[in-house]
This record gives sequence, structure tokens and C-alpha cells, in this order.
Amino acid sequence: MRIAMIGTGYVGLVSGACFADFGHRVTCVDKDKAKIDGLNEGVMPIWEPGLEALVKANAQRGRLTFTTDLPSAVENAEAVFIAVGTPARRGDGHADLTFVFDAVRELAKVIKPGTVVVTKSTVPVGTGDQIEKILREEGVTDVSVASNPEFLREGAAIADFKHPDRIVVGADDDRAQDVLREIYRPLFLNRAPILITGRRTAELTKYAANAFLAVKISFINEIADLCEAVDADVQDVARGIGLDNRIGPKFLHAGPGYGGSCFPKDTLALLQTAEKAGVDQRIVRTTVAVNDDRKNSMVERVARALGGDVSGKKIAVLGLAFKPNTDDMRDAPSIPIVNALVERGAKVSAFDPVAREQAEKIFTRIEFANSAEEAAADADALVIVTEWDEFRALDLEKIAEILRGKVLVDLRNVYDPAEAGEAGLRYYGVGRGRPAS
Ligand code: UGA
Repeated sequence: MRIAMIGTGYVGLVSGACFADFGHRVTCVDKDKAKIDGLNEGVMPIWEPGLEALVKANAQRGRLTFTTDLPSAVENAEAVFIAVGTPARRGDGHADLTFVFDAVRELAKVIKPGTVVVTKSTVPVGTGDQIEKILREEGVTDVSVASNPEFLREGAAIADFKHPDRIVVGADDDRAQDVLREIYRPLFLNRAPILITGRRTAELTKYAANAFLAVKISFINEIADLCEAVDADVQDVARGIGLDNRIGPKFLHAGPGYGGSCFPKDTLALLQTAEKAGVDQRIVRTTVAVNDDRKNSMVERVARALGGDVSGKKIAVLGLAFKPNTDDMRDAPSIPIVNALVERGAKVSAFDPVAREQAEKIFTRIEFANSAEEAAADADALVIVTEWDEFRALDLEKIAEILRGKVLVDLRNVYDPAEAGEAGLRYYGVGRGRPAS
């Protein structure tokens, strides 16, 4: 199958590379010339485990090419995927579809009858209808429009793409269904279930999935607060409820609140869709508020652990990316935490294994260390913000030696409180019983 992938962000690049790996001929298009030049030279615009090798292998076999020339890519394609960004519009949280519609207008000039246009970007309900309308206005007929939302996670993107829990295809006609079945055929061998739905249903399914996961996280975060008040352990509560198959163990890790490029944006966009439809979504609305408050209040935990005041203190921060295995800083919980620490007069020394370059654009008033130990040296407290694997195996006794203040604030519950105590640290986790005063 010949595929054009418009947009080489996270979703576009990973999907394009994986489709090529399935044996399809994929052309990835982006307006950003520097990005395309880099990709043609094997330079990845994002840090994602396994991506570079996958891109290089498929480019070498001639199945994966990169261009800024949209018409040439679309002209020869049997399926055109739209994977451009749909950022939240400033102020109101609406998904901004400018990039999507611009791409549609451009592809309309060259697309051949019989082609299937597929949205892979997360787009609000009804976007497929709007795309059809634009195509009609541009004089294009006999083109199918389908929705195929992507559920991959950053940091595990390739594995998620190749071993999905399900593939959702929203297609109202047979041709679109057939083309998408053919594209995903290699995954059926892995027994990945494909769910064929109406186009609007598929569009909504993506938002509902992300919103539900966000609800799960905020739920366990509030339970963690309750655990601290009543001296219970949220790790055990999460395990105790997660072993119930109806609940499931995933996305029940209490922490500093969810971040990233998806949950914050998609929950807001879902609320906008609901408002437009005149249907209140109280649970999602509350989830958004709970998460915003949580991220902003994390600095209080650090302050409490230091006796109420962080001014003049040196704080070591481990992990800045919104989650491990990515250099993505979008809506990262580290941002409000570090900014508030600096505002309150603390001196911050931070270490992240890969996000430093991105973080340097955001934090201008902090020091960047080259290792966890370097950050911790002479600090009053060590705060774990992102649970990179390398922070799971710190030599706690050594940390206790070099940390002046002997305070470990573990916002990801990486360590066992007793073990940290034995190493000589005062441990403050999230929801791990009544915090020491
Ligand atoms: C999320 C979804 O998990 C993907 O299925 C979806 O495709 C993607 O959004 C998207 O819409 O493109 P992602 O944002 O990459 O993926 O990252 P997640 O692993 O879902 O984590 C999101 C945030 O939730 C992170 O800040 C993470 O630390 C937090 N989280 C996650 C928790 O605080 N607790 C948990 O138990 C799980």
C-alpha cells in the first residue's frame, strides 16, 4: 500500500516508520525543512526508544522517505494520513484544527479519486464531516474520509503501535474500511482486535479513552491524600483495588499529577465538545481542576518536608520530562514545581537523563547537573519528580551522605519508606501514610 503521512510529529513519525516496517511504502511530509533534512540524514527530531533504528532500517530499504513536498507524496498515495498537531487553542481549550484544515486544502489540489483520507491526529467529533465539506468545496469527489485514532504512549511508542490493545477505525463506507484493514493486516497476525465504528464514534473514543485514564490518575491522587490523613498506604490500596479485573492495575500510580501533550489538552477539548453539545461532563471537569491544583500544590510538599520554608535552601530535582523515556517537557509537573521553588527563593539543581536541552529553554534560573549525585551534593532535599529507571536504583546510603538535609521527597513513590529510613533519610512519599513532621 502507498501511504502519505502528513505531519512528522510524535504520532506521524512513529506511525509512518511502523507502517513502513509492515512493508508499506510511506512518504512522510512536513513543512519544517530542517526537520525533514535531519530525517533524511538519520537525525531524529524527538527522543524515543528504538525510533532511530526503525527509521534508518526502513529508509535504507527504500520504504520510508521524507519530503516537504506534499503534492508529490499525496498524488501517488492510496491512503493519506493526517497526523499534524492539534494544540489547545489559547484561552478556551478548543482543539486548534488550523493545521488539519490547511493540510486538507492543500491535498485537495492533487488527490486522486478513490484515495482514503484518514485522521490520525486527535480531532474533535465532527472533524471528519468538516474535512468532507472542505473537500467538496475544493471540487473533490469520490474520496473517503475515515478516523483512525492513535493510542500510543510516548516512551513506549513503537511497542504500543506494534502491539496495540485495539485498533479503532471509524469509517462510514466499505472502501475506507477495506483500505484500513489492509494497512493493519500485519497486526491481525498478532491478534490485535480491530473495532470498526462510525466515524464520529471513533473520534469520540479517543477523547473518552484519554479522559478516563486522566480520571483514574486523579482518583488515585485524591485517595493518596486521604491515605496521608488516615495513615494508610496508597500503594497497597492501588494494588488492592487493581487486582480486581473490573478495575485493573494500570494508571493507578499516585504522583504529582498528569502532564504531557495529551491528557491536559484532550480533557479540555472534550469539555469544549460537551459544552457545544449542551451536555455537562462533571467528572472530567472536576478531574481537570483536581489535576491543576495538584501540580501547583506539589511545592508545598517540598516546603513542608523542609519545615515550611524553602528560601535559601538548595533543592536537588531528579527528572524534568513529563514522564520517563522522553525528552518531552509539555505540561510537565516539573514546571510548576521548579518555578515555584525558584520564586520562593530556593536554589535548584536539576538532573534529567535526556530532557536537559528542552528543559534549558524553560528554566533559565536553575543549575543543571550531570548526574543525580552531582545534583544531590550539599542539597537540603532531594525531590524525585520523574521516575526514570536510573533513579530507581540510587545508592540511598551514599545519597544520605552527600545530602546535607537528609530529606528525600519522592513524588513518584519509587522507594520503600522503611528502606529510605534505614539509609538515614527522612522520607516523604505520596500517600504513604501520615507524613513525618
Ligand atoms: C497518553 C495515553 O496513555 C496514550 O494512550 C495516548 O495515545 C496518548 O496520551 C495520546 O493521546 O497521544 P502519554 O501522554 O504519552 O500517553 O503518556 P502516559 O503514559 O499516558 O502518561 C501521561 C501522564 O500521566 C504522565 O504525566 C504520567 O506521569 C501520568 N501518570 C500516568 C500518572 O501520574 N499515574 C499513572 O498511573 C499513569
